[in-house]
Amino acid sequence: MKKQENDILTQVGPGTPMGRMLRQYWTPAIRSSALEADGAPVPVRLFGQDFVAFRTTDGRAGFMDEACPHRGVSMALARNENNGLQCIFHGWKFDVTGKLMDAPAEPAARREKFCASIKVNRYTAREAAGVLWVFVGEGDAPKFPDFEFATVSEDQVHMRRGVLHYNWLQGVEAHIDSSHVPFLHSGYLVQNKSAGFVEQGNLEALRLMLLDKAPEFEFETTPWGLREGALRDIGEGRANARIREIALPYFTFIPGPPNGQCYARMSTPIDDDTTAEWYIVYDPVRPITEEAIRGQFGYMSDDPDDFATNLGSRTNQWGQDREAMKEGHFSGLTKGIAFEDFAVQASMGRRVDRSLEQLGSSDTIIVKVRRLLMEAVEAFQQGRPAPWRDGFDYQNIRSQSISYNKSEDWRRYAYKGAENGPGRVAEKI
Ligand code: FES
Ligand SMILES: [Fe+2]
Repeated sequence: MKKQENDILTQVGPGTPMGRMLRQYWTPAIRSSALEADGAPVPVRLFGQDFVAFRTTDGRAGFMDEACPHRGVSMALARNENNGLQCIFHGWKFDVTGKLMDAPAEPAARREKFCASIKVNRYTAREAAGVLWVFVGEGDAPKFPDFEFATVSEDQVHMRRGVLHYNWLQGVEAHIDSSHVPFLHSGYLVQNKSAGFVEQGNLEALRLMLLDKAPEFEFETTPWGLREGALRDIGEGRANARIREIALPYFTFIPGPPNGQCYARMSTPIDDDTTAEWYIVYDPVRPITEEAIRGQFGYMSDDPDDFATNLGSRTNQWGQDREAMKEGHFSGLTKGIAFEDFAVQASMGRRVDRSLEQLGSSDTIIVKVRRLLMEAVEAFQQGRPAPWRDGFDYQNIRSQSISYNKSEDWRRYAYKGAENGPGRVAEKI
């Protein structure tokens, strides 16, 4: 990869090619419960731009530029009452749709006309899966990504955010790279104590991963991005496929236990050097238990808006434990699987220079995704619409780990939610 291409893929600020394209997707901004009716507006940074999210007296959520359209005072300081956000400098007051309701310092006779003439940047917002999602791109918002996790009832989904100090693409590339699992995470897989990840049928899939650390990878391009099968021979004419679904540009769906919880990850840009890692656990049929939440997030900071505050940093080598390594823990990053991922990504530096990499065949998926992103950005710059937003049913995207006869194609087992009904693993088609 050339350095210039690396810049195109990683720079997300206003006006940059990737920044323009990524803004064409619905993006998670803040957890719904962080917004209180008439409470303090919450500053939110996305794509190197500053916004505020707020909840009005009647419970609706709004999202607008942080800078007051008058003279730029932070609307995070604004009063929030009577269904409006009022700037504390000169009292301009905005409703949830971004309309300027009042500019009390203007002469009464021409106030109404004046208010109507003011342009306010407010954005389309919607709440789903306990999170406020926003569209801050050009033109009309696309269809909302109503993935399975966004449509199950509230008690069947749990979502948290970590704020990490590396570029968004490093986050995505960690989640799509299944070849690191039997190495970086083997400490947990070996000891069967992966903080919630190893459970029920998942154990069997993880045992297989350790048995064969160099599976064959096969891919299928899909309307939402791609699907990866990590294929392992399990003897007696059968094979195992761990099928990972990648819904570009942000989502990775990671195989969970059969008929159990499902896992998804999103790495969305806060700015070029900072990423929001959204961790999603959902169960298509039953409520998520407290125990399952503790299992996933128990070792992390209690702050659901930034669960990685106790990750550590370069200064303390992310808490790496050399004694544990001597005793058999592979990475020595003993807090948990997610923190292993975060520490290695952060150790690359804030924005890794991909022109210095030397890739092997186990990096095929990384190369494929970079190519898809690059092609999409180039096409978007030439006026074509952003891809991966329509022409498919989001409900059909779910990862799985399956065993099948080797004479068959694993792609035939890919999850088809609409055909199989909710909560069922795809069977032989
Ligand atoms: S800066 Fe906000 S009302 Fe003047
Ligand atoms: Fe990982």
